[in-house]
Amino acid sequence: MSQFINRQPQPRYPSDTLWLEPIECDRLPVITLIPNDPLNLETLQKLLHDQDELYLVWPDAKYPFDMEQWREAILSEATNISFYVGKQDEIIGHAALRETDVPQEYAICYVFICPEHRGNGYGRDLVQQLEIDARDRLGAKTLRLHVRSYNPLAMYLYDSMGFQGYEQIGTLTKMRKRLSS
Ligand SMILES: CC(C)(COP(=O)(O)OP(=O)(O)OC[C@H]1O[C@@H](n2cnc3c(N)ncnc32)[C@H](O)[C@@H]1OP(=O)(O)O)[C@@H](O)C(=O)NCCC(=O)NCCS
Repeated sequence: MSQFINRQPQPRYPSDTLWLEPIECDRLPVITLIPNDPLNLETLQKLLHDQDELYLVWPDAKYPFDMEQWREAILSEATNISFYVGKQDEIIGHAALRETDVPQEYAICYVFICPEHRGNGYGRDLVQQLEIDARDRLGAKTLRLHVRSYNPLAMYLYDSMGFQGYEQIGTLTKMRKRLSS
């Protein structure tokens, strides 16, 4: 039995922050960032069952969803963290923060809100909560992300939240935002 327990993945996220404070807003219900730690990819696999959606979230992702590819990407650095997006008792999306090679700069990636929940402001709340977590927990000064020109909704969202393009390679736009203190 003890052998079995020892083989369980160990949480990498401090237990007192397992549920982050939801952002107060005048819309209900609010969303909550739920650290996906220890890493559970089965739920993400179910969320990203559609090939087109998977492609929007991560153009290099293998289809069908490849657990090992995601595990490697998310666990590549100790401070990387995947989050599920909770709305009441339901999981409605996902996002991650990844360490970059620039000190105090983190990357937002693998952003996804389930199609049936879109257009309600949850994507905006999600990015806002990621900004707060990156700044307050990780000490981030800047955030970066990648978005594609064939994804105008996501482009509009990031642009309207203050991310600015700094490099364009084909359809890939690299954006960055300085976080306020
Ligand atoms: C991008 C994504 C996360 C946005 O999530 P969302 O919950 O729909 O976002 P919001 O409801 O906060 O909407 C953000 C803005 O887009 C606008 N918007 C959302 N859906 C829209 C639609 N169908 N048509 C026009 N505008 C729309 C909203 O009005 C809002 O702008 P506003 O605050 O100025 O009114 C979601 O569409 C998604 O998961 N897409 C697939 C995966 C993906 O593209 N990930 C990003 C990879 S970089």
